[in-house]
Amino acid sequence: MARFTLPRDLYHGKGALEALKEFKGKRAMICVGGGSMKRFGFLDRAKAYLEEAGMQVEIFDGIEPDPSVETVMRGAEAMRAFEPDWIVAIGGGSPIDAAKAMWIKYEYPACTFEDMCKVFGIPALRKKAHFCAVSSTSGTATEVTAFSIITDYAKGIKYPIADFEITPDVAIVDPELAETMPKKLVAHTGMDAMTHSVEAYVSTANSDFTDPLAIHAIEMIQKNLIASYNGDMAARDAMHNAQCLAGMAFTNALLGIVHSMAHKTGAAFADCGAHIIHGAANAMYLPKVIAFNAKDETAKKRYGVIVDYMGIADRNAGDDEKVKALIAYLRKMNDDLNIPHCIKHYGADSYPAEQGFVPEDVFLARLHDIAVNAIADACTGSNPRQPSVEEMEQLLKCCYYDTEVDF
Ligand SMILES: NC(=O)c1ccc[n+]([C@@H]2O[C@H](COP(=O)([O-])OP(=O)(O)OC[C@H]3O[C@@H](n4cnc5c(N)ncnc54)[C@H](O)[C@@H]3O)[C@@H](O)[C@H]2O)c1
Ligand SMILES: [Zn+2]
Repeated sequence: MARFTLPRDLYHGKGALEALKEFKGKRAMICVGGGSMKRFGFLDRAKAYLEEAGMQVEIFDGIEPDPSVETVMRGAEAMRAFEPDWIVAIGGGSPIDAAKAMWIKYEYPACTFEDMCKVFGIPALRKKAHFCAVSSTSGTATEVTAFSIITDYAKGIKYPIADFEITPDVAIVDPELAETMPKKLVAHTGMDAMTHSVEAYVSTANSDFTDPLAIHAIEMIQKNLIASYNGDMAARDAMHNAQCLAGMAFTNALLGIVHSMAHKTGAAFADCGAHIIHGAANAMYLPKVIAFNAKDETAKKRYGVIVDYMGIADRNAGDDEKVKALIAYLRKMNDDLNIPHCIKHYGADSYPAEQGFVPEDVFLARLHDIAVNAIADACTGSNPRQPSVEEMEQLLKCCYYDTEVDF
């Protein structure tokens, strides 16, 4: 038996934020990040709408990018004091993910971070509060997913919390919020969404229910991401929907090893100055993983179907040729978005650089541990081809040097 779960309600289109006016409850806690939502007026608007709905509103702000366990605990403490019956998280993946974890701790104060990380082990929520997510970036789709990514900075590792219990009750997908994104954020979050849809489509947990969502997301991202990056606001709006469709696919079909590798390399070189941004990591690793996974016949056929929908190779071509076309197309997207092809060239501000942040000797010294951690990541199980530690090391090397995957 498989399960397909999404938020009960999804409000979309420009101005959808107004849906907050119709919420029923007594107290709403708004969770936000460092200031972009306040700066652009969305926080004030959300607060006013909730007050119009007759609710008392408190704000928990300052949630940092890639939120920490400590922030989650602080937020839960604030919730225990205010006792909200609605949690409204507004912003990118970071504040929404942090608020999801705070929600668990608020409902179950004895639950430790370790308890939360047990896959599909969260007890029934909604005894104290319901959850609404309003996304301001076009990538993570956390407004519709059963996931939350929290970083343990002591270990330098990102941990996914995964359970349908934390799928929001309400998602608000209002493209106005995404229009203020800086270019680089558009690039990274957009390639994150592309990775979500491609990984969901070839995942071993794919289904008739997730396939159409993944395919339509891929087509929309192909059509709109570069234009959105170059300032086309109609394309920017379309990307906001596309990333959400990708999220609906992957929350139910799961992901693969591109994400396992991104989770385990993201903070692994922080001491070298290289915080490898989630979307940039995915963009660099996706073409390599496609080459690796294509050794699996089923995955290769499914990549071929993606290519047929994208219309980037002759329909009558063989699947090997189609896989090559897909890899070339994605690499060209990275070029157009100014994202490097490999860790070696991952430089300042995540732009390509001749000599990036991560020195070769440091990379090689940490390679084995990263490979072991990546294999243990929750996303590895649904990848179409299961790598050995040795293969994962080889694959990571290809992602460091930008060499071809031929194994
Ligand atoms: N839960 C999931 O399913 C899932 C999936 C993929 C990634 N993630 C996680 O989500 C996090 C990344 O989230 P993200 O990429 O959305 O970025 P983010 O939330 O970390 O935000 C990045 C920066 O962009 C700013 N920002 C956000 N929206 C803006 C806007 N509209 N205009 C201007 N500035 C804006 C923020 O203030 C912040 O400084 C990572 O921790 C990643 O691991 C979660
Ligand atoms: Zn992702």
